[in-house]
Amino acid sequence: MKKHQTLFINVRLATMVDEVGYGLIDDHGLLVEADHIIWIGLMSDRQSALESDPKVIDCQGRLMTPGLIDCHSHLVYGGDRADEFELRLEGASYEALAKAGGGIKSTVKATRDANQESLLSSAKKRLTPLLNEGVTTVEIKSGYGLDSETEIKMLRVAKQLEADCSVRIQKTFLGAHALPVEYADRSDDYIELVCNKMLPEAHAAGLVDAVDVFIENIAFTVAQAERVFDCAEALGLPVKAHVEQLSNMGGAVMTAKRQALSVDHIEFLAEQDVPTIAQNNTVAVLLPGAFYVLRETKLPPIDALRANGVSMAIATDANPGSSPVHSLLLIMNMACTLFRLTPAEALRGVTINAAKALGLDKELGSLSVGKQADLVLWDIDKPAMLSYQIGLNPCAAIMRSGIWRKPLESYSDR
Ligand code: NIG
Ligand code: FE
Repeated sequence: MKKHQTLFINVRLATMVDEVGYGLIDDHGLLVEADHIIWIGLMSDRQSALESDPKVIDCQGRLMTPGLIDCHSHLVYGGDRADEFELRLEGASYEALAKAGGGIKSTVKATRDANQESLLSSAKKRLTPLLNEGVTTVEIKSGYGLDSETEIKMLRVAKQLEADCSVRIQKTFLGAHALPVEYADRSDDYIELVCNKMLPEAHAAGLVDAVDVFIENIAFTVAQAERVFDCAEALGLPVKAHVEQLSNMGGAVMTAKRQALSVDHIEFLAEQDVPTIAQNNTVAVLLPGAFYVLRETKLPPIDALRANGVSMAIATDANPGSSPVHSLLLIMNMACTLFRLTPAEALRGVTINAAKALGLDKELGSLSVGKQADLVLWDIDKPAMLSYQIGLNPCAAIMRSGIWRKPLESYSDR
C-alpha cells in the first residue's frame, strides 16, 4: 500500500543539525512519509527524488522548527501554592517554608488526597498552553506522592496524558524528592523504601523511563542519591538529578560520573566541576523559571559550560512551588534575558539538547532524515523572534509523528 506523504515547500528550515546555531536552510523542501522525515533537499532536485504524488503544503516562507521539547516538568499534582506565593512576598524563604512543613510537603498532601481523574483534568489544563506553543514532547516527574500508591497514580496520569493529548510523555520517577512526614528523621529508611518498593513497583508497572533525585540540604544527600542510582542502574534505568539549586552539595559531579542524562538547575555548580559534566556527555538543564520565581541571584556557570562544550537544555520546571510557569517560549526569553543564552542556544535548549537530555536525540530534536515528523510552522522568518517576544505565540501549525495536531489550513491570519 502506498504510504501517505506530505511535502513542505517555501519553508525556512531551522534544522538544528549543526554543532552551533540554527542550521538554517532555505529553498529546500521537506518530505514526510507516515511518521518520519524521509527527504530534505533542494527543490530543484525534487522531481528526481520524489516517486509518488505527495500532498503539498505551501508554507509561504514561514519558519519550521522541530517540535519543541520540555525536558523537565512536574505537571501532575494536586492543589496549588498561591498562599505560599503570598508568604514569600512577605519575606518567608522557600527553604524556610519547606522546613516548616509547607513547600513540596503541602503539595504531597494535596496530591495524595486527589483522585486520578482530578489529577488528570488539572494536568491537562497546565499542559494545554505548552501544546499550543508547539511542544510535542514533555517530561513529567512523579515526586508529590512519596508513597508507592501515589507515585504510581501520578505516573499513570502522565501516561494517560500521552494517550489523550497527542503529545509524547517521558515519565520520570522522582520518589526521592522530599522526605514524607511519616519518615521524619528517618531519611535512610525512606531511601530504602524508595529502592526496595517504590521504584521497583513503578518500574514493574511500566511507568518509569528515568530516575531523578533531589540532592539538596532540604532533600537528600549525595550518598542517599547514590543508593537510589544503584537501584536504578540495576533496573537498567537512566538517571538524572536536581542538583546545586540552593547550595553546592557535589551532586552534579557524582551524578554526571554515572553517565547521567542530565544535571538540572546547577546555579551553584562550581566552575571546576564543569569538565566532569562535559566528559560524561551529560546535559546541563537550566531552569530559569525557578531562578526567576525564587528571585535567585547566583547564575549558573554559563561561560564555563559553553567553554567546555556542555550541551545546554532549558525547560519550564512547571511545578506549583518554584516555577508555576506554563510557557516554553517565555522560558526561552528568560534563558536569554536572565542567563544570557543566545536565542540560538535557547532554541537548541528546547529542541536538540532537550532531546539529548531525555536520551531521545536519535529520534527527536532536529529536522533530519530518519527522525520523527514532529514539526512546527511559525508565522515568523527569524528564529530569534521565538526568544525575543514575550506573550506572543506565533505558532501557525503543528504536526506530531506525521499527524496534524494543528493543520496549517486552520490558520488564516497572514
Ligand atoms: O524543580 N527542586 C525541587 N523540586 C522542584 C520544586 C518543587 C516544589 O517546590 O514543589 C523544582 O524546583
Ligand atoms: Fe524540578
